[in-house]
Amino acid sequence: MRTQPHLKRNDHMLDDADFTREEYLAMIELCQMLKRAHYQGVQVPLLKDKVLGMMFDQPSTRTRVSFETAMTKLGGHAEFLEFKTLHVGEDHETMRDTAEVISRMVDAIMIRTAEQQVIEDFAKYSYVPVINGCSLDMHPSQVLCDVLTMREHLPETPFEDMVFMNMGDCNRAYDRFCPTQGSMWRVAALLGMTYICCGPKEMWICEEDQQVFWEVAERSGRGAKLLFTEDPYEYIDQVDFTFSDAWWYHGAESDDFKGRRLGLLLPKYQVNQALVDAGKPTLGVMHCLPGFRDFEITSEVWDGPNSLLFEEAENRLHAEKAICTWFMYGQQKSAALQAYHQGAIEDFVNESFAKLGK
Ligand code: CP
Repeated sequence: MRTQPHLKRNDHMLDDADFTREEYLAMIELCQMLKRAHYQGVQVPLLKDKVLGMMFDQPSTRTRVSFETAMTKLGGHAEFLEFKTLHVGEDHETMRDTAEVISRMVDAIMIRTAEQQVIEDFAKYSYVPVINGCSLDMHPSQVLCDVLTMREHLPETPFEDMVFMNMGDCNRAYDRFCPTQGSMWRVAALLGMTYICCGPKEMWICEEDQQVFWEVAERSGRGAKLLFTEDPYEYIDQVDFTFSDAWWYHGAESDDFKGRRLGLLLPKYQVNQALVDAGKPTLGVMHCLPGFRDFEITSEVWDGPNSLLFEEAENRLHAEKAICTWFMYGQQKSAALQAYHQGAIEDFVNESFAKLGK
């Protein structure tokens, strides 16, 4: 008999703003616990026999490899499902029917696709948790790893005292090209950070999103601040982290698009050694990757002592383990129940084979 999906919004990972501060902090702590176990050579099989379906209609290195590895290390399995190899899309099976079908077979589904609404709609018809693997508007799994990286870099600093400066674009209404930023300012509001939009005015967070920032900040009540500047040096002596994202999509954008964005961003919003030298000695330079060396960040800084780029990339694995555990963990069935079913099924098969002379 058909049953309706019964999941609540925060049974999925769709939008960072769906979580309470307490839930978010618990997920960060879970990342840290799983990372500590990993570094002591221990893998905890919390998701034995669970299956994560991973639907992609865009390329990925970090998201794909980290989720797939996380599931294996947790004792489960991940299936790589490219849209182009599925019956989904125009003139094919609808996304609703795809959600109904796949979610009856796996224990959670991660989706990377451009439109946030497609992921939201999929979740409406899914019987299992849906994890946003990056839309054009948000990238929650990336930002959980970024916040883990920030926590590790400044372990004694409360999130409320952290100052985060985004370099370049954080206006989804401009080119729709800042998914990680869309998640980052939501989490900054939730955790009470100071979020600085540093870039040309047209790339500052749009008014509609500013309202969301203030709604999340008010609900959380941790005193988050939102500042704007066109001058990377205005606040640099107070900044704990700079954050950059790729200035154009790898291999997918026209020369016009690149040229227009480069005209606005280079050289002013590049993170270079002069900017780092003007900041705190502990300044952490972040980038979600993939990025373009010597565009968003100079190679000197990219490979220098303030760079957190590869810690962030590694932390995708630990964050994905925490996400998979948070959304997929269920009480393990008792050994007695396992033995009961195994015994009954084996007896049936043995008797059937004997009767049929097999
Ligand atoms: N940061 C990130 O999502 O990387 P991928 O596109 O390689 O998954």
